[in-house]
Amino acid sequence: LKVEALEKVSSSNTLKDLQDIRVAYLGKKGPITEVLRGMGKLSQEERPVIGELANKVREAISDALDEKKEKLEAEELEKKLAEESLDVTLPGRPVQVGGPHLLTSIVEEIEDLFIGMGFEIKEGPEVETDYYNFEALNLPKGHPARDMQDSFYITEELLLRTHTSPVQARTMGEYEGSKPVKMICPGKVYRRDTDDATHSHQFTQIEGLYVDKNVRMSDLKGVLNRFAKHMFGEDREIRLRPSFFPFTEPSVEMDISCKVCNGKGCSVCKGTGWIEILGGGMVHPRVLEMAGYDPKVYNGFAFGMGPERIAMLKYGVDDIRHFYMNDVRFLKQYHKV
Ligand code: PHE
Repeated sequence: LKVEALEKVSSSNTLKDLQDIRVAYLGKKGPITEVLRGMGKLSQEERPVIGELANKVREAISDALDEKKEKLEAEELEKKLAEESLDVTLPGRPVQVGGPHLLTSIVEEIEDLFIGMGFEIKEGPEVETDYYNFEALNLPKGHPARDMQDSFYITEELLLRTHTSPVQARTMGEYEGSKPVKMICPGKVYRRDTDDATHSHQFTQIEGLYVDKNVRMSDLKGVLNRFAKHMFGEDREIRLRPSFFPFTEPSVEMDISCKVCNGKGCSVCKGTGWIEILGGGMVHPRVLEMAGYDPKVYNGFAFGMGPERIAMLKYGVDDIRHFYMNDVRFLKQYHKV
């Protein structure tokens, strides 16, 4: 019995096996208990001999179990320590970091430039009233130029703003002709356009407004010239062409001289060497008047641009929809911009 038990102990590999062996041999229903229980039936002479033998066997098995238990526990601890050990000399795993969206970077770059020239950043509601989106900008109801900006109307008087110009009207209205205005307003705008490579029903605009005494067209030209050079390179030239906007008079469109460079070298874009970038002009006297500025004392310039277009030209993005698809393979290329 002893030999059998000790063999089982030495071949067991888990603490659970040991516990089972202990129960089987030393437990209440085990053979040793049975022997001890049967002592009463033995003769006077046999009793001490069998008793001693049974106790020795029990001790031997119990000692073997204890010893093996200690060994197994030690092994288990060893294994756990080995598994949990940390090799601090291993190279770290790279962490995936995000980055700003290309549009965010462009808008912030433009904002920084204009802040540097003393412009304030202003924001306004995307759900706008017909008054601020159109009427305050010299676009009364039924004006044909409203068609230039096909709108998403919510009610007869409310719409998704079609440009950020209403923020300019709001700011002038807020100051009520009391002080000069020098601001830019970046934000989302909405038009009922069918989405394609160059149109999106939602896009971004940054418009600028400078109202003061003696603001001249040459001031506009100077600011825009700085902007063009800052964004596209000091070697760029600008030119202003006559245009029409209901809220500016005279109105202009600005082109920048352009070169398209690829691996093979640089060539002039679109044949003419000029590419249209933005619109602007001198604030219409009616617009100043409606906002509480006396057009005999104050005048100003305004301009508006689309950051998507700026980004497309600057980085050669060929489809405006890339900005809104959020394909990380596209976005990642510009994380270091
Ligand atoms: N609001 C005009 C547009 O959305 C842009 C513009 C702004 C033109 C200011 C002139 C002056 O097209």
